[in-house]
Amino acid sequence: MGNAYIFDSHAHYDDKRFDDNRDETLAKMPENNVCGIINCGTDISTSEFSIGLAQKYPFVFAAIGYHPESVDDNTVFEKEKLIELADNKKVVAIGEIGLDYYWDTTFKANQIDFFKKQLELARELNLPVIIHDRDAHGDTLEIVKQYKPKGVLHCFSGSIEMAREIIKMGMYIGVGGVVTFKNSKKLTEIVKEIPLERILLETDAPYLSPEPYRGKTNNSAYIKFVAEKIAEIKNLTTDEVLSVTTKNVKTLFNI
Ligand code: NI
Repeated sequence: MGNAYIFDSHAHYDDKRFDDNRDETLAKMPENNVCGIINCGTDISTSEFSIGLAQKYPFVFAAIGYHPESVDDNTVFEKEKLIELADNKKVVAIGEIGLDYYWDTTFKANQIDFFKKQLELARELNLPVIIHDRDAHGDTLEIVKQYKPKGVLHCFSGSIEMAREIIKMGMYIGVGGVVTFKNSKKLTEIVKEIPLERILLETDAPYLSPEPYRGKTNNSAYIKFVAEKIAEIKNLTTDEVLSVTTKNVKTLFNI
């Protein structure tokens, strides 16, 4: 790798898997060629934690919001609290928000309600959004078409047709460790077809480590394996992939 830098558009360094080595891991990022990280909240307390990390590390930025798995019948939408948190200069997005029907669909209506409320809030605050969509492609696409936000479909797992629609709306596709997995044929086709100018790189750390670290704790430095794979798929250099995708993150999140 040459002089191109990694910008991780999606990580969770608040996760308890980093409790023993969070500061050590983050302090090493600049020497690992990582120039930026967006840490995504999943509820109010992790959003506050993200802002804390962003205050401590100049290269960390924060996204704030309610993840669909944090939403049930008892979850209260604290709009004023989010507005207050968004006032911090290092808050660059509302996220991660969206729909997750993988585990169960008991709180589907609540998830949809929170997703829409947060898309409205993002519009009010003029912030981009970071969207989580797991096994909820139809509803996600329908709602996104309705609100037309600026933003990214993180860890994209939809079809090529859905990717085309997302790109047509000016949004981005988030690509991480999954693209390095042997069974990622569908994602490989998507990466091959869509322009690099529409792709953001991400870890979702501590989850989804790329090969050769699949199953281990992920961190932003491992994005180089994702960039190498995308370079191979698109017949580009790793540096080209890193420099364009880093520029994409800075453009979308106004960094
Ligand atoms: Ni995430």
